[in-house]
Amino acid sequence: MKTVNKAIGVFDSGVGGLTVVREILRQLPDENIIYFGDTARVPYGTKSAKLIRKYAFQDAGFLISRDIKLLIVACNTVSAIGLEKLTQEVSVPIVDVIEPACRAAVGATENKKIGVIGTKATILSGIYPKMINKFDPAIEVISKACPLFVPLVEEGWLDEEVTKLTAQRYLRELRGQIDTLIPGCTHYPLLKSVIEHELEKKIVVIDSAGVVAIRVKKLLKEMGLLTHSPNKSWHKYFVSDDPESFRKTAMSFLGEETSVVKEIDIEEY
Ligand code: DGL
Repeated sequence: MKTVNKAIGVFDSGVGGLTVVREILRQLPDENIIYFGDTARVPYGTKSAKLIRKYAFQDAGFLISRDIKLLIVACNTVSAIGLEKLTQEVSVPIVDVIEPACRAAVGATENKKIGVIGTKATILSGIYPKMINKFDPAIEVISKACPLFVPLVEEGWLDEEVTKLTAQRYLRELRGQIDTLIPGCTHYPLLKSVIEHELEKKIVVIDSAGVVAIRVKKLLKEMGLLTHSPNKSWHKYFVSDDPESFRKTAMSFLGEETSVVKEIDIEEY
């Protein structure tokens, strides 16, 4: 297959990376996509750095074995902990989800106070303040780990009372403090309405998935790798456990896109 017509590989610990897939489908509708969600081992954000790196290698290994042209690490936790090593070992270009969001937030803030929410591992890594301050040392970053958000999303409880109360509890520390928020976990855009309800209206919530898709488009164009295939694009979904539950969540989020979801043994990679 010509390199331009090869698929873009996308992975996450579960359904969160679909927020990035949705933007790729919108902004790059001709591109083929292979998605892997590590549903057997989600969440990643509460695991050790050693384990997160091991999982990241296996996830990337599976996608590379499917002959992709570009890899999107649609997981902030892996982008925070395992990206450097992955970049050294993987033969295709990699796009992460942290750098594009930081750039967008730095461009958006007026009072120079940015809030970042994410998994425990992402927040503890300190990568967001580090990167934001590299772009503008005068910006204050207020970070908050929200570990309960991921299981709520994986359960499909996007708008339940328990989800609203959880958001209230986590986000109250940010109210009145910031003018821009980075949802620093790809699961969180699925809670967009609940999160926005808990914040003041004037706060800009960065569209992390949207800016990642813009980066992917720019990179593919620069490398001459935008697909030229005149045929309808194809999208394949793989998980490490419970394909039916993934299919349901994915279908309600993406529409008819995900009628087939296959299970693989990720430990083989
Ligand atoms: N969606 C991922 C992230 O962006 C991982 C969440 C998790 O598995 O804890 O961080």
